[in-house]
Amino acid sequence: MTTPVAAAREGRRHVEYETGSNRLPARAWARSDAPRLSLSGEWHFRYSTEPEPAVDFLAGPSGEGWGAIDVPSHWQLRGHGRPIYTNIRYPFPVEPPHVPDLNPVGDYVREIDVPADWSVGRTVLRFDGVDSFAHIWVNGHEIGTTSGSRLANEFDVTGAIRTGGANVVAVRVLQWSANSYLEDQDMWWLSGIFRDVRLELRRPGAIGDHHVVADYDAGTRTGHLLVETDVPARVVIPELAVDAPCGESLTIAQVTGWTAEAPRLYHGTIESAGETIQIAVGFRRVEVVDGVIRVNGSRVLFRGVNRHEFDPDNGRAVDEQTMLRDVVLMKQNNINAVRTSHYPPHPRFLELCDEYGLWVIDECDFETHGFYQDGGETSLTGNPVDDDRWREALVDRVRRMIARDRNHPSILLWSLGNECGPGSNIGAMAEEARRLDPTRLIHYECDWTCAHVDVYSRMYTSHDEVEEIGRRAEPALDDALLDAHRRALPFIVCEYAHAMGNGPGGLAEYQDLFERYPRCQGGFVWEWIDHGLRMQDTQGRELFGYGGDFGEEIHDGNFVADGLLFPDRTPSPGLWELKKTFEPVRIAPDPSGIRIRNLQDFAGTRSFAFAWTLEADGIVRAAGELDVPDVPAGADVVVPAPTLPSTAGEAWLTVRATLSQDAEWAAAGHELANGQWVVSGASARPVPPRVVVAGSALGPGTFDRHGRLVELAGMPLVPPRLDLWRAPIDNDFGWYGTPVEAQWREHGLDRMLDRVESVERGADYLRISVRTAAAASETAIRNVWTWSTDGVGLDLVLETEPLGRWGFALPRLGIRLGLPAGVSRAEWYGRGPGETYVDSCRSQLVGRYSASVDELQTPYVRPQENGNRSDVRELLLSTAGEPVMRVVGQRTFAFTARRWTSEELDRARHPTDLVPTESVWLNLDLEQYGLGSAACGPGVLPQYVQCARPTTLRLRFEPPR
Ligand code: GAL
Repeated sequence: MTTPVAAAREGRRHVEYETGSNRLPARAWARSDAPRLSLSGEWHFRYSTEPEPAVDFLAGPSGEGWGAIDVPSHWQLRGHGRPIYTNIRYPFPVEPPHVPDLNPVGDYVREIDVPADWSVGRTVLRFDGVDSFAHIWVNGHEIGTTSGSRLANEFDVTGAIRTGGANVVAVRVLQWSANSYLEDQDMWWLSGIFRDVRLELRRPGAIGDHHVVADYDAGTRTGHLLVETDVPARVVIPELAVDAPCGESLTIAQVTGWTAEAPRLYHGTIESAGETIQIAVGFRRVEVVDGVIRVNGSRVLFRGVNRHEFDPDNGRAVDEQTMLRDVVLMKQNNINAVRTSHYPPHPRFLELCDEYGLWVIDECDFETHGFYQDGGETSLTGNPVDDDRWREALVDRVRRMIARDRNHPSILLWSLGNECGPGSNIGAMAEEARRLDPTRLIHYECDWTCAHVDVYSRMYTSHDEVEEIGRRAEPALDDALLDAHRRALPFIVCEYAHAMGNGPGGLAEYQDLFERYPRCQGGFVWEWIDHGLRMQDTQGRELFGYGGDFGEEIHDGNFVADGLLFPDRTPSPGLWELKKTFEPVRIAPDPSGIRIRNLQDFAGTRSFAFAWTLEADGIVRAAGELDVPDVPAGADVVVPAPTLPSTAGEAWLTVRATLSQDAEWAAAGHELANGQWVVSGASARPVPPRVVVAGSALGPGTFDRHGRLVELAGMPLVPPRLDLWRAPIDNDFGWYGTPVEAQWREHGLDRMLDRVESVERGADYLRISVRTAAAASETAIRNVWTWSTDGVGLDLVLETEPLGRWGFALPRLGIRLGLPAGVSRAEWYGRGPGETYVDSCRSQLVGRYSASVDELQTPYVRPQENGNRSDVRELLLSTAGEPVMRVVGQRTFAFTARRWTSEELDRARHPTDLVPTESVWLNLDLEQYGLGSAACGPGVLPQYVQCARPTTLRLRFEPPR
């Protein structure tokens, strides 16, 4: 039989079900004093799409086509080949384990001097990540092959290396391989050596592997430490007065446990004759007790996100700064947990989770989604999850993940993979995981019967179903034993609240359920970051590319842009809302004062400072500190409300909780939670006396002969008309929910036509009745506009009445008008400063805000409805600092202002497609459809859906005084 290495020499494809060849057994990632030579940096590189390129580079780059590439990187992001985005589908014919002959190849060469004193000991060559398969040679000697793109591959190269001289490391990487069948995650297909490479000297007596188990008894605050090594060694932790041989079980009194809230680490070393390894020990115990996950004895609630490794310029080759940025942003936004979807991350990320405090689900590099459809139906034959020939490869993957990562206290659960469907190999993987690490829980979402897992996990579960599961009242499984087992398990939603484009909505309602039912231990929002790749359009303008932007044959469009961060890591409005939803304390009015509820699982509130502000009509009138005692985790307290001065107008009390001292991840003063409520309502606005009018003018308004407002105090307007349309957001397309976008378009809401039915001029008013409908449709909205004036402003009463059958939710209901293009700024009293929608607005407090028209836009990777400001009482628009129009609502209204119409927004594929028009388009709405998360998951909750019905919108327009 030809070995894979020999096959490569012959230019054959990698077609085995194997697990790489000649690899060393997996071991823990370590900080060690073993001599190391980094091979990261510049390599010689040659890219080829020939079916069988010659293996002619073992002695160094020779022949045509060689250039340089930086390692780690992906070659598609360095000008070779193209990225491909598919969600589920394999981008090559499915006939496992074969891949097409036309298989892009990256040949890498690196020269490296190895010191003479490396002759004592063994030399190991380590790759932390190569996508998807590599053959390796050192000085022309075949070394081995890799498997598992996101796993470490180590080789003993002692026999091949020349100490005291120059060496040549040659690597051939194939874009597609048998590995690709196991790595069908929803992300860009990107190839190459994308994590670090190094040579390491293993001196005699070096530690082959080390395993740290640090159990914690929260009742007695006792730590149990067992450090195992494969060679004689000692463990030394000065702070705990530990200096003992490895292999001994140590009991340590009065230690502090590790939690995500207070990540207490004890630093120490493991010392053998040949090596010293640094360790950071966190004592903690994770277990399921009474159907609930407990850490150190307490129920925990995962306020989590799914994190892919992503950088808009470097793909999955993320540097340490980027990892740190993610961790810090998560902590600053009240996130306490991360699922490493869908592969083990760079090891440094896990260290950062240990250091900063994040609960982790570490997931195996395994997904075969292309083989099955949702619901477990097999659509293609040969799913590796259920094929014996792949078993060893899969067990090997889980073994290597656990061996690499098990010393991290932050990891609570091992996840066997994502979306492979059910299959016999899952059982084998679970068994191996338990054998290697009985101290953690096993997770795998596609094990719907929970035969192999410790936690019942689902994705995109509706609120109603979460509720049912919370009550342990879900429909029974056929197998009574399995049913009893599953019903006794804790529940998490490993993916929910799909953050694609504008959204998600409905976060607070999920959180209510997680807080209400002990079984529901939270979830992980899908997902952390948009995977938009930075690129330039033909005019050299920067944009973030998604599926289809790279000429892919098949692709899944912008489904890859579904994160809480924009590709450049700017937080999106979805993240602001998540931060509010995940707040560690809840602050609310109470009949006897102010109630502070500590929602944390371990820590008291001592690290928070509380302060209040009183605002009347958006102007600060008084402020002070709020004295709050230390509220234990899970408890609440009512503190007296401050004595407030009396104010005129609508008065709001806002209480904020901030960090009282600097934390490692944010400075003192960083806001974590807030509560806001009205303490005295607005006095009713006096109804202005109407004045008798004559002619086409009505106070400051000029109307045309159809009764349409064409000028306000000399400022020309594109006359206001009824507007029901919004540029559909990704959720409106509703892949999994109600596809409202199709209904809206079918009913022509984007192409409504007006017919003025009547114009009526009274002594002190002007009334027009308009019938608004689309071609080919008999459904219509009658909109009756009654204008009057007090001589200063214009008052509008707009009454709408649906005609015919309107059996669906409306995108929006309000008016749109065009203002001169010079209008550049808005100032408003309402929710802000960010955008808000009816099911995603709690993070934005009522106040007085100001923004330029450009700042009002949110640049979603695929343009769509955005920038709405809701609960607005008053809006002032200005041109070059000069006010031009004030809009006052009798009740609250919402507005958007943009330099293009909703129709243009709808047509754009990228923000660069949006070209300012001659007008600033102002929408003033009574309501807008919610956001939901139907792009992948449930739609807008019923309470946030408005169907056509009779409504009244009352607005007053005033020119500047
Ligand atoms: C899930 C999957 C994720 C992602 C998400 C949709 O089914 O696990 O990887 O595809 O849907 O964005």
